Amino acid sequence: MTCEAGVISFIGAGPGAADLLTLRAVDRLARADVVLWAGSLVSSDVLRHCRADAMLLDTKAMTLEDVTAVYTEHPRAAIARLHSGDPACFSAIGEQIDWCVQHERAFEIVPGVSSLGAAAAAAGIELTVPGVSQSVVITRLARRTTAALGPGDDLVAYAAQGGVMALFLSAGDPERLQATLLSEGSVYAQDTPALIAYRVSWPDEQVVPTTVGQLAAELAQRSITTSALILVGAALRPGARARRSHVYDPSFSHQYRPSGATP
Ligand SMILES: C[S@@+](CC[C@H](N)C(=O)[O-])C[C@H]1O[C@@H](n2cnc3c(N)ncnc32)[C@H](O)[C@@H]1O
Repeated sequence: MTCEAGVISFIGAGPGAADLLTLRAVDRLARADVVLWAGSLVSSDVLRHCRADAMLLDTKAMTLEDVTAVYTEHPRAAIARLHSGDPACFSAIGEQIDWCVQHERAFEIVPGVSSLGAAAAAAGIELTVPGVSQSVVITRLARRTTAALGPGDDLVAYAAQGGVMALFLSAGDPERLQATLLSEGSVYAQDTPALIAYRVSWPDEQVVPTTVGQLAAELAQRSITTSALILVGAALRPGARARRSHVYDPSFSHQYRPSGATP
């Protein structure tokens, strides 16, 4: 499905910078008649890819009903709906997809650069570190939104598993976040590395390496309560890698290098 008349394109707008969009996203924006963008998280810089005559609507104060009313009012328009980062996580496209299915409206999803990838890039690190951990848990600390959690969504249980934890939408309650990460049974300790990635790729970006024990103080000192991704885990420790990767190891054969080392 391409961005055609009557199609709604749910587009990953990336973390902020207007050049961190996919070519497909730029193509859809250049063709869209109506563009809805979440001004609370999506940079207005991204709108430079839109047509000068496109209708631009900021959704930050809108409800789902307001948004779908726009879809109903423009049944034959090419609509671009921008969501920050990549729409696969914490973007609320699920309920819009349900609406599209219910109303037999064609849609497509254009993936984007998640703040997770953007944060790791800004910090200059890989999140899966051979010999340390190969798992990243994408989750959040809930406050007023606890009803969104599923029965197994328990940060304390995830903290007992280890690996890297990527905490979206969680900077607003730093003391509870830190206490949860250090709760009994957690593999994280006071000196476990943590990273605060604030407004990555925006002009006021901050990328702050710290520890789980210093997390709350560091967030408070910088007055960071929103727009931050928090990463924790032993894999973030500089020089943490315990071994090199298998894939480029001459002693490790695989489908494309069956005999191990290249001749
Ligand atoms: C509603 S969620 C959207 C996440 C988005 N779908 C993504 O892939 O990044 C908003 C949260 O994503 C994270 N986030 C989004 N953009 C960010 C950025 N530029 N820098 C750091 N964190 C960001 C923050 O945790 C923020 O609270």
